[in-house]
Amino acid sequence: MKIYLNGKIVPQEKALISVFDHGFLYGDGIYETLRVYNGQIFKIKDHLKRFFQSARMTSLNLPMTEAEIENALYKTLQANKLKEAYIRIQITRGYGEIGLDPALCPKPTIVIIPKEFHGHPEEFYQKGVSVAVVNIRRNHPLALNPKIKATNFLNNILAKIESLKKNAYEAIMLTIDGYVAEGTICNIFFVRQGVLITPPTNIGILEGVTRDLVIRLAKSKYLRVMMENSFKKEALYNADECFLTSTTMEIMPVTRVDGKKIGNGKPGATTKWLLKGFREKYVAPYYKK
Ligand code: PDD
Repeated sequence: MKIYLNGKIVPQEKALISVFDHGFLYGDGIYETLRVYNGQIFKIKDHLKRFFQSARMTSLNLPMTEAEIENALYKTLQANKLKEAYIRIQITRGYGEIGLDPALCPKPTIVIIPKEFHGHPEEFYQKGVSVAVVNIRRNHPLALNPKIKATNFLNNILAKIESLKKNAYEAIMLTIDGYVAEGTICNIFFVRQGVLITPPTNIGILEGVTRDLVIRLAKSKYLRVMMENSFKKEALYNADECFLTSTTMEIMPVTRVDGKKIGNGKPGATTKWLLKGFREKYVAPYYKK
């Protein structure tokens, strides 16, 4: 694999950064994961908008324009001849002496890592996956705002470790007050009596690009969407359907929460209908270009 590192495309073995990089020392950086369908980056403008928002919220000076970043992403894909992939762009505070002051790092480090990817196994979509509500709480927005897509991921990793011990595919984190927030790398939705429900963004979650597309799709199909109220984990237990959303998952059905069967234990009709609609409306156009 060839990697983009500070303006150059280099072989993976040569894509090395200093131990003094503040991304390594402090997890001081931001990133985006984007999906590539048929050689084209999915909803690139939405991802770049969020990337720039993350940069602003962490006072990271992005040394590139949106157009330059787009160019670098495509250059990396082309260097690897990738058509079905995901691609991660990451910017850290950069090389600097030990110390927290960002002024110690005159230049950010920019890395782009691509990987061939054809989607998660079809079996997951047929059978659904299991999730576990974990004890680790999602970062409070006044501590480290989950709106920032930060490389500092220990909060999510601790949640993931807990869910792995419970043999679950994904962890669901609650807010400090015990309301359902999100997964470690995805947003969560459920369906109850024909209404699509998802936690509000102000509760402290990442504003997922996929989440937003699913809400728009549901509304365009006259499905009632509720995203103003927060809810406890019991609402998930009593849901008719449940699913996760992310750039790599698209819409992933959930059939068990904390070992409890959701609905009849199979992916629900609304979930399947939304996944089909998502692929037809948003993904298929990339194969016609
Ligand atoms: N994860 N919540 C969290 C904490 C995430 O890390 C992600 C994305 C999402 C979903 O956002 P989107 O729909 O824009 O992908 C929600 C990516 C896929 C990752 O970590 O690689």
